[in-house]
Order: sequence, then structure tokens, then C-alpha cells
Amino acid sequence: MNETHLQYLASPEWAQTVERELLPWVEAAGDLGDDVLEIGPGPGVTTDLLRQRVRRLTAVELDPTLGEALRERMSGTNVDVIVGDATEAGLGQDRFSAAACFSVLHHMPSAEHQDRLFAELHRVLRPGGIFVGQDSLDLEAIRLGHADDIFTPVDPDRLGDRLASAGFGPTTIDMLGYHFRFVVRKPA
Ligand SMILES: C[S@@+](CC[C@H](N)C(=O)[O-])C[C@H]1O[C@@H](n2cnc3c(N)ncnc32)[C@H](O)[C@@H]1O
Repeated sequence: MNETHLQYLASPEWAQTVERELLPWVEAAGDLGDDVLEIGPGPGVTTDLLRQRVRRLTAVELDPTLGEALRERMSGTNVDVIVGDATEAGLGQDRFSAAACFSVLHHMPSAEHQDRLFAELHRVLRPGGIFVGQDSLDLEAIRLGHADDIFTPVDPDRLGDRLASAGFGPTTIDMLGYHFRFVVRKPA
């Protein structure tokens, strides 16, 4: 991530957006249950807010600097931090009651990599488990904010088919200005 983007993700403004716009929607989408997986926590604003709402949280972060810092900060809490690629983090099959990823998909290098993540989340979720996420739309301003950075936007119109190919049930998508939110379940 570029420095400006990183600073924004660690800011009170982003924490407020997550708390006011994302988490109420996540909570309305369904019970996250007792064992939740977060993909791509970055600096951990989303982790701080999620972990207050669940018994156990596992966060998988690809970037070693961010991941190690978060692991240290979360030491002694209800959060386990794994540093690695969430598509191959060695997580147990059918383990998690829910999975969440906020602003992560467009930071993956390709649509194929995103599809591998969907397949992996389907594998590690329990039957009936819920997958919630939010991501940026492909807008000029968002592209500019990702100068010198990975930007692989997800087309919300295609997301449902891609998640269905990974084995998930029907996708609910909610458009919100510059981003969209989605929720889907692994069939029970
Ligand atoms: C834009 S940040 C979002 C941080 C946080 N979710 C938030 O909303 O504040 C995206 C994060 O996803 C991480 N990431 C990207 N691909 C990943 C992967 N395959 N596995 C785990 N983390 C990944 C990046 O390293 C980065 O820290």
C-alpha cells in the first residue's frame, strides 16, 4: 500500500466509517458466531472493532511489517494474527462461523487470486457460515488513490457469479457511493 493510503486506513476517519457504515450492516446481515476470520486487517482498525463483537478472531495479513505489528499489538487479546497469504494460510476446513474482508479484494494482484480466496473461504467456513465484505468501486478517484499500488477492482455485477462458482449461495450487494458491501453464505 502507498503511504497516504496506509495513513488513511489507520486514521480516526476510517475507524468512524467502519463503525458507522460497515459494522451495523455486518451485524444486520447475520450473527457472526463464535469463531471469526478476518482477511487483510492492515493496520488493524477493522480488527479492533470486530474483536469487540466476537469471542475469537483470527486475522490473516499478507504484509509482514503490518502483520507482525498487529500480532504484537493483539498479544494477550482474543485475536490470533497469522502473517501470510489468506489463500494458503493452512486454516482448518469447516472451522469458522464467519469471514470478513474490508477493502482487501482490490489489493490482490489478479481476479484469479481473488477467486482462489473465495474458494479458500468457502473451504474454511462452516456450513451455513457467513462471508461479509466491502470493497471499492472502479472510479477514477479511487484509481488515483492507488497510484504505484495494486488495484484490481471487483465488478459488483459479476461478484455473485464468481462467489457461486466458489460454492456460495446467493449474494446480497449494497452500493454505497464509492464502495459496495456484500454478504453471502456457505450453504448449510
Ligand atoms: C487496504 S488494506 C485494508 C485493511 C483493513 N481491512 C481496513 O479496512 O482497514 C488491505 C490489506 O489486505 C492485505 N492483503 C492483500 N492480499 C492479501 C492476502 N492474499 N492475504 C492476506 N492479506 C492480504 C494487504 O496486505 C493490506 O494490508
